[in-house]
Order: sequence, then C-alpha cells, then structure tokens
Amino acid sequence: MLKTTLLKATEASGKILQQYFNGAFEVSSKSTVNDLVTEADKKSEAAIIAVIRETYPDHFILSEEVGEIKTDSNIKWIIDPIDGTVNFANGIPLCCVSIGVEQDGEMILGAVYNPFMNELFLAEKGKGATLNGKPIQVSRKETVGTSCLVTGFPYKWEHRANDPMEVLQYVLREGIPVRRLGSAAIDLCWVACGRFDGFWEHHLQAWDSAAGFLIVEEAGGKVTDFSGNRYSPYQKEILATNGHIHSALQDLVNGKTDGRKN
Ligand code: IPD
Ligand code: CA
Ligand code: CA
Ligand code: CA
Repeated sequence: MLKTTLLKATEASGKILQQYFNGAFEVSSKSTVNDLVTEADKKSEAAIIAVIRETYPDHFILSEEVGEIKTDSNIKWIIDPIDGTVNFANGIPLCCVSIGVEQDGEMILGAVYNPFMNELFLAEKGKGATLNGKPIQVSRKETVGTSCLVTGFPYKWEHRANDPMEVLQYVLREGIPVRRLGSAAIDLCWVACGRFDGFWEHHLQAWDSAAGFLIVEEAGGKVTDFSGNRYSPYQKEILATNGHIHSALQDLVNGKTDGRKN
C-alpha cells in the first residue's frame, strides 16, 4: 500500500518535471542567488503531497519547499520534489524526484526517479534495491586509487566541517577521477548500481539523501558520516561507497593520506 502510493507520487512528479523542462517557468532564489526554486519544484511538491494525502491524510510530511507538516503519525514521508534544481533550471537532464518513507525513525522505502533517463531506483528495507524492476548491486572495485568517485558542494561555503576544497584536493592529488553531477540523490543511486564506487558530500539535508541512502544500503553498499558512524539522513556529512573502498575513502576525506595501502 505504501509502495503503491510512493510509486504513484513519483510518477505524478515525473510527469510535471517533463512538462516544465526546457519551458518558460518562474525561478527564484532562496538562501543565496544560486540556491534556486522553480515553479516546477512547487508543482511537483504539490502533486506528491496530493497523492499521499488521498490515501494517508494523517501521515507526517517533511518536504524541501513547504517544510514540515507535523502529525502524530509514526510514518514520515521525506520529499525532494526536484533534486538537481540548478540542473533543471539550466536544461540539464540530470535531475530527479526523491521520496523516502520512514517508520518509527527508520527508513523503510525509498524511490528516486529521473524521468529524463527513464530510471526508477527503488529500495525496500531488507528486500534489496532495483533499477526499473531489476536488482542492482554496488561495484566490486577494491581500491580507491582506481575508483570513479562523485561529490557535491554546498550553496553556502560556511557549511563546512572539513573544508570541501581541501578534501577535494586530497582526492585529486591522488589522480582519482571525480565527477560532480549536481543531484545528491542521483549520486547515491549511481553508487548503488555500480556506476560510481564512492560518493561524499559535506552538507546535505534529509530530503537529499533519505531515499538514496536506503537504496545504497539495500544494494550492498555502506553509508556513514565522515567518522564512520552509521548514517542518518538528519546529519549533514555523508560518505557512501561499495563498502570495499570505504575506509580508504574515509581516510582521504579526513586528510589522512600517509601510509594509505589502497
Ligand atoms: C542539491 C543537490 C546537489 C547538492 C546540494 C543539494 P537541490 O539539492 O542535491 O547535488 O550538492 O547540496 O542541495 O537544491 O537541487 O534539491
Ligand atoms: Ca534546493
Ligand atoms: Ca536536493
Ligand atoms: Ca530540491
């Protein structure tokens, strides 16, 4: 039942993203000039919430543009109506809708849908992860030195635990390929299906990672903070890998570059 609603909501959002993409839509700024919100973000969010409300009028909702709609329910929907809004606003088809479902504080379902590549990533706690219905697994790469990595940067530079520029330098100095797609949810899903071997970012919000983090775990990967503690979507730092390169990438992210073995 929850899954049916989740799929219906992602489908409704996907249609809106396709309808608005490359068209004329309103764009405005939030915390900084480059922290954008478009008419499509708002329409997507309204459509997702309407679908959830048809079946679950009392569920708790946390969604990027409207914030929290608090209730006493033990089920919380964590929604990013467009992840990759800057890409969307520039006509770059690397964006998606991301919806996670939390029950009693634990993520139990997650869906990320990029309608422009027609890719639907789905995970259910304990039941694995799929891409368009087919099971997916993280990569088998064993060394960080031969990995393909992805990262992202905050809109505001005061958001920094470890300095993002320094961390990037540690990785780049090793000559490791690093990509920046502009959608944390897609970054996570691409770790889950083995396109990337690892991802790190310094300052995410719950809606960026709620679904993607479950998708990585259910695909056999590992997700922690920069200290190696199990990840929760309510913390900012994220390190998600295929598991094999986790401690080596964790060392790099923490600037421990001496004596690295792989
Ligand atoms: C952003 C994207 C981006 C990440 C930012 C997020 P938004 O989300 O996920 O990849 O680097 O930190 O805020 O604003 O496009 O939903
Ligand atoms: Ca945003
Ligand atoms: Ca986001
Ligand atoms: Ca967003």
